[in-house]
Amino acid sequence: MMSTLSQKTYMAQETRFKGRYARSVGNTLYQAYRPFLGRTLFFLVLGFFGRAALLSNANLVGLWVDSLCLPPNPCRPMPAFLHYFGSGSLGPLGLLCLATLIGILLTVTFRIAISRLSADAVSTIYDETTMRTSRLPMSFFDRNPAGRVVTRFSSDYNNVFRIFGGPLAEFLGLVFDILAMTVLITMANIWLLPFWLGMAALNYLAYRLNLQSLRKARRETALRRSPSIAHFAETAQGRSVVRAYGKEANFQERFSHLNDAYLAQRLSSVNVFTRFSLSMNIATAISFLALGLFGVWAYEQGKMSVGSLGVAFAYFGLSVTVLQAFFEWLGQFEEAMTGLERMEEYLRMPLAPGERLPASATFSTGHPKEVSTVPVAFKRGASIRICDLWMRYREEIPPVLCGINLEVAAGERLAVIGRTGSGKTSLVQALFHLYPLMQGTVQIGDLEADLSEQSGEPAPGFIPLKDYRQQMAYITQAPALFLGNVRDNLAVAGEKSDAELARAMAQVQFLHDGATEEEYLRLLDQRIEEQGRNLSSGERQLLCMARCLVQDAPIVILDEATSSVDPRSEEIMVRATEEIFKHKTQIIIAHRLSTIKSCHRVLWLQHGRVHRIGPPTEILPEFARSDLHP
Ligand SMILES: Nc1ncnc2c1ncn2[C@@H]1O[C@H](COP(=O)(O)OP(=O)(O)OP(=O)(O)O)[C@@H](O)[C@H]1O
Ligand SMILES: [Mg+2]
Repeated sequence: MMSTLSQKTYMAQETRFKGRYARSVGNTLYQAYRPFLGRTLFFLVLGFFGRAALLSNANLVGLWVDSLCLPPNPCRPMPAFLHYFGSGSLGPLGLLCLATLIGILLTVTFRIAISRLSADAVSTIYDETTMRTSRLPMSFFDRNPAGRVVTRFSSDYNNVFRIFGGPLAEFLGLVFDILAMTVLITMANIWLLPFWLGMAALNYLAYRLNLQSLRKARRETALRRSPSIAHFAETAQGRSVVRAYGKEANFQERFSHLNDAYLAQRLSSVNVFTRFSLSMNIATAISFLALGLFGVWAYEQGKMSVGSLGVAFAYFGLSVTVLQAFFEWLGQFEEAMTGLERMEEYLRMPLAPGERLPASATFSTGHPKEVSTVPVAFKRGASIRICDLWMRYREEIPPVLCGINLEVAAGERLAVIGRTGSGKTSLVQALFHLYPLMQGTVQIGDLEADLSEQSGEPAPGFIPLKDYRQQMAYITQAPALFLGNVRDNLAVAGEKSDAELARAMAQVQFLHDGATEEEYLRLLDQRIEEQGRNLSSGERQLLCMARCLVQDAPIVILDEATSSVDPRSEEIMVRATEEIFKHKTQIIIAHRLSTIKSCHRVLWLQHGRVHRIGPPTEILPEFARSDLHP
């Protein structure tokens, strides 16, 4: 069960809104709308005139009423321009129809156009944020479990899209209504303006008085939702373990606990919203009363016509719903802005050293961008030189690799052995620069990866990190496969024709002996579930091996490639390392010593240090003895 303390820590980590949005939020919105700026402004103006045209009906009816009344009442003659639209009473009626028609047309155009433009604009924020998140330091993902990042990201984006992806036009329509009513009420009679402003101020006061509790209610509801969903996702992922140990009840209890907290928060939010709505109603009722008293007095004094009073009551009556809707939307708008501010955190977070944004990135966030360089091509194997390499996963934990020095010749097959936790996988992570090195260098050929954090051409002797990583094909300890089909999973490694992809699958003998070319071509369409769930672990390894073949990199790294395959597949693996990848430089991390006998050298790691290195005939027996009697 998540303790109260950790729940509090979680909330403290998440709460960021301090009453004012960071400047960069405005900048992000600007960057998102920049490609659509001209069109957005045009449709905004259109929207304002559309709303004003619809509302002006009240003024037209007021003018018509005033032209009918008899002295000594305060009357106004019909303005001359109304005669263009018909004689007598037909003038105001003609304009009324025209204004309604124009109003509807403009409002509909405005709504559709702004909703579309806005949806396009905010979806670029999504693209740009995911583009950066996938390049964040690995330590970020170690600290923030994937479930939490995904839940937070999707709920923030939902909040942003819920307004900006459509209802923004509705919200802006309300803003235009308020502005247009202010202008139109003043045109009806200038004395009405103070009452109108007074009513707006009272409603605003009611909003301000409730603001803090509204904000708190919204944020806490959002925050309490994430842990229960993250817990649910985590349980669903680990369902086989939960079932095997019969621990459903514990997980259910923890979920209920988190969910109860969420529901209690929702109930308290409902109370806050009811209080807010009630205070707005009271504010409007007071304004109505004041307007009524003043109206009767002003009419009797001859300062206000019946038509103007009618206009005032029409707008005050409308304002009840308009202002309430406006403040309610304002809350959602604020939520969207808070979501945007939280996405911003990911958008502007520094990338891992050496990572570059692709040239297609459109937001300027100060991150370094890819520059086009001549691709590096090692014909066959490439050598690897590691000098005094130290690495740790996080500042606060001790190093896992301590002063490794190693040279692997081009085309050499090096096996890496060592007890569990000795640092074998970490060595590969260091080779790929997945975590920052504390010290030391790694060279492929005689080139190092450019890990600088600024854009620009790499210095002589350095190549972009992306190109550097391209030199190594990697079969990870837990093969990484994606939802899609076999073709999609192979194509991750580079764009190749179906025939080439099928050939790679045939080379690893994925299907039964003697399978035809057609069968391998058909195999490319076979569906792969998330993380390759519908394949056996051996098949996953074989598919990853075929991917390595497609990548055709000079260096191949197999991490425990033989630990989870049947004898036949193991034979294929051995054949792959000895024949298929024959000319490549290979680093093979294996627990089954039988599969690495034919390697040129064996590196024995112990506690993150090179313990022994030498020919297999010398190292393997010694290791086998130590493994039996550690
Ligand atoms: N992401 C990580 N964050 C913190 N520590 C880690 C991380 N990954 C590994 N470690 C630690 O680094 C040490 C070396 O781990 P590594 O995965 O390199 O071992 P290994 O030799 O590959 O073991 P195995 O044979 O079990 O795969 C271990 O003590 C492990 O706990
Ligand atoms: Mg490992």
